[in-house]
Amino acid sequence: MNKLVIANWKCNPTTLKEAKKLFKSIVKETKDTKNTEVVICPPAIYLLSLKDKNIKMGGQDCFWEERGAYTGEISPKMLKDAGCSYVILGHSERRKILDETDEVINKKIKAALAVGLTVVFCIGETVAERMTGQTEQILENKLRAGLNGIINPQGVIIAYEPVWAIGNGNPCDIGSSRETLEFLREKINTPIIYGGSVDSQCAISYINEAGFDGLLVGAASLLPEEFGMIVKTIS
Ligand code: 13P
Repeated sequence: MNKLVIANWKCNPTTLKEAKKLFKSIVKETKDTKNTEVVICPPAIYLLSLKDKNIKMGGQDCFWEERGAYTGEISPKMLKDAGCSYVILGHSERRKILDETDEVINKKIKAALAVGLTVVFCIGETVAERMTGQTEQILENKLRAGLNGIINPQGVIIAYEPVWAIGNGNPCDIGSSRETLEFLREKINTPIIYGGSVDSQCAISYINEAGFDGLLVGAASLLPEEFGMIVKTIS
């Protein structure tokens, strides 16, 4: 399988002009890469304005209904129609800031799979959960609840994102990420990627030493050269 590098731009940048510039620079920095699938997940409002033949597009979230009286929501079908093949679901920022529950995430995953989107399903433990030795139990619970009722997880990619390693330049050490990966591989047979303070220095180790199938990149995906380096080092 090709390695996967997914850019999660989160709520950045703040203008379409900047989004187009960033996208163009990433296209340039990643254009000669082989054996790696590059996916960009911008804010949904920019999706229709960003297209390139070498880049796949993804949403950062979606609703669970196809259409109707749901003010503010974007349905999986709309993402599909806007050119997306991926959608990130269950991100810890949405769980924490927007109170997304496992039940809500489960409904979203089912709806996204139903229209043929590949789901990047994020799971991870908080620092308190880790310190009290609950990491494996928490991950197993999230996995089970998020995929409840889904018999065939084909179309789901698991993103292991330890919450304490996100956005702070303090990535999970390779050895412990490998142990967690091995635990997850016993639970589910689907690609598993790592996210949390990934940069061009540590990226390769998560693939070659830990054995992940790809990376989910936040802050570094807003820096085209750095993101390009991440893609190149693992390709
Ligand atoms: P950072 O790479 O900024 O730590 O973000 C990781 C993340 O949350 C990707 O979804």
